[in-house]
Amino acid sequence: MEATPSAGGRRGDGAASPASIPGVAGIRTVEWRDGTVVMIDQRRLPLEEVYIHCRTWEEVADAIRTMAVRGAPALGVAAAMGMALAARAALRSGAGAPARFRAELQAASKGLFETRPTAYNLPWALREMERIWTRDDLAPSEVAEEMERLAVKIYEDDLVSCRAIGDNGAALIQEERPVILTHCNAGALATAGYGTALGVIRSVHARDPRLHVLVDETRPLLQGARLTAWELMREGISMELITDNMAGYFLNKGVVTHVVVGADRITANGDVANKIGTYSLSVLARENGVPFYVAAPFSTVDRCLPDGSAVPIEERAASEVTGFDAVRWAPPGVQVRNPAFDVTPARNVTAIITERGVAFPPYEESLERLDTLEER
Ligand code: MRU
Repeated sequence: MEATPSAGGRRGDGAASPASIPGVAGIRTVEWRDGTVVMIDQRRLPLEEVYIHCRTWEEVADAIRTMAVRGAPALGVAAAMGMALAARAALRSGAGAPARFRAELQAASKGLFETRPTAYNLPWALREMERIWTRDDLAPSEVAEEMERLAVKIYEDDLVSCRAIGDNGAALIQEERPVILTHCNAGALATAGYGTALGVIRSVHARDPRLHVLVDETRPLLQGARLTAWELMREGISMELITDNMAGYFLNKGVVTHVVVGADRITANGDVANKIGTYSLSVLARENGVPFYVAAPFSTVDRCLPDGSAVPIEERAASEVTGFDAVRWAPPGVQVRNPAFDVTPARNVTAIITERGVAFPPYEESLERLDTLEER
C-alpha cells in the first residue's frame, strides 16, 4: 500500500467518478483508478491529507480494518472495489480455470466480510459482486470486467443516492435557521462523496445558509471532531464542536431544532444501529420533543433481521478508550469496554430518510413499501 500527499485536496487526473455527479469540496473518499483503489487516509485527518493506493484486496481489507476508510456506504464501495482487485489478481495468477478463479474470489469475499461486522452495506456490496462471480455463462476475464464495472456503479449509485437523501431530508426540514445536531461522521467521508446526515445538512444549507450545526466530538475515535468538523469547515457551513456529554444541555435549552444521524444497519422494524452514543442522543431528543431523523441509503436496510437485537455489534480495542495516538490517560492495565455501535429503538426515530423516500412509523410497513417500490 503506497501513500501520497494530496495536492491541496484537488481532484486527481484519471479519477473514475462521473463529472456530472461530483462529490463535494474536492473530497475523494474512495475511488477506482485504473486498477488501483485510492482512498483518503481518514486516520490522519484533519492534520494531514494523505491518499493511500491499494493494489490488492488484502490492502483494501487492511484499510477497512484499521479505519483508513470507514462509514457504512464507503465500506460497501471499498469492499466492492476490493473484489474487483481480487478478480484482476486471480486472472494474473493464472487462475483462468473457472473453479480456481471462483475459489480465489470466495476467499477474498470472506476476507473482506470479516473486516468489520456491523455496517450492512459491506455484506450488501459483497453479495452484489457475488452475483457476478458465481455466473457460469461468463469466462473469468469477462467476470473480471463486469466486476470492475459494477464496483464503479456502486460508487456512482451512492453519489446519486446521497443527493436524493439530501433532497428528501431538506424537504422535511422546513424551519428557518434550523440548528441541527449530528453525531459521528455521516458525511462525504463516510460515503462515495456527499454524505447521508451531512447530505441532508448540505441540502438544507443550499436553501438556507443560516443553518447551524452542532457536532458531537464522538468518543472514542472522534469522528465528529476530526472528520465532520473538517468537512463542514471546508465548505463554510456554520458549526460548533461540542463534547458528547454536552448534547443534553443544548437539547434541554431548546437550542437544537433537529437531530440528524446516519446508520450502519436498519432492521425490518426500524431499529437503527449506529455509532455508539446515538441511542443516548435519541433518548435525549425524545425527552425534549426534538425530531430525531436517520438518513441512510436503502443498502443499509437489512429487512432479514426483524429487530436490532440480532445486529452484530463490533467491540474494538481497549487502547481506543485508554488514550489516543501516543497519549495515554488511563492507568496501565485498566479493564475497558468498547462497543463501537449501539441500537436506537424504532420508537425513538421520527423518520428514516432514504433515497427512495421518507419512511415514517410503523416502519415494518413503510420500509417494506419503499423496498417493493424499487423492485417494480
Ligand atoms: O466506526 P465508523 O466510523 O465506521 O462508524 C460510522 C458511523 O457510525 C456512521 O454514522 C454510519 O456509518 C453512517 S455513515 C453515512
